[in-house]
Amino acid sequence: MNIQWFPGHMAKTRKQISEDLKQVDIIFELIDARIPISSRNPEIDKIAVGKPKIIVMNKTDMADESENAKWVSYFQKNNMTVVTVSCNNGKGITELLAKTDELLKEKYEKNTQRNIVKNKARIMIVGIPNVGKSTLINKLCKRAGTKTADKPGVTRQKQWVTMSNGMLLLDTPGILWPKFENPDTGIKLAFTGAIKDEIIDIEELSVKLLEFFKEHYTDEFMSRYKLKDVDKQSFEILEDIGRNRGCVIKGGEIDYTRTANIIFDDLRSLAIGRITFEFPEDLNV
Ligand code: G4P
Repeated sequence: MNIQWFPGHMAKTRKQISEDLKQVDIIFELIDARIPISSRNPEIDKIAVGKPKIIVMNKTDMADESENAKWVSYFQKNNMTVVTVSCNNGKGITELLAKTDELLKEKYEKNTQRNIVKNKARIMIVGIPNVGKSTLINKLCKRAGTKTADKPGVTRQKQWVTMSNGMLLLDTPGILWPKFENPDTGIKLAFTGAIKDEIIDIEELSVKLLEFFKEHYTDEFMSRYKLKDVDKQSFEILEDIGRNRGCVIKGGEIDYTRTANIIFDDLRSLAIGRITFEFPEDLNV
């Protein structure tokens, strides 16, 4: 991550989100459908006790469709409201807003009884970096190009933006920090691009990715790289791919960095297919 989360930053962010939450009726907690657990920080549940919340499972266009459905059941079984979206193309946004009205129906009714006319949801978006917060804000407000600062502790003037359906959106999202309790979390965040490639060792990461493909989506992976055998060491598979792709330098040696970059470009452009990296059945729930 090109930002560092120190305890001081976390405390400041937590305080800021708590403050902002006082002004909103509902939270949209964005997560990445490819890594629904690693892209969540359950700390938000503690910060937002009692506040209605929708888990917005984003980037579903990049994740395995059947796994998306399993994750929806998982969250529902755990009494969480969940909506699947693809913020970059707007899929699921209508359902998200319908669900928002549904969750706030009782509140609206009470407001009406008390002659309060504030029957439009006030929404705040939260999530870790790169889950799509800016994309969702831009989609909801039908504008383009605003990128929120990911720097913890950096705040700017917040504004309410009125959406076309009258709902109000806080234009600055709450940026949660990733939790690195599990050693695999960082790796999965790096697979999805949430940790920037410049600060990680792409060759090492590609070996981890090959380990994953030896167990999951193996056919799709083998077919993409025309591999006959993956029952070997991951670095040997990397060599096979490099050779097949012509990533060979002087002396016939494989250019591992170039090979690794090809694999990650393919992964992120969906050339290998729609891939999910976390599975509900691994959570023993
Ligand atoms: P953030 O504010 O939470 O940090 O995330 P942001 O909206 O900037 O989105 C991060 C990247 O994810 C962007 O790509 C954005 O286009 C992409 N993205 C957001 N929602 C979706 C979605 O539903 N599907 C897909 N396929 N992509 C989505 P980017 O600008 O290319 O950045 P990067 O990927 O190079 O970091």
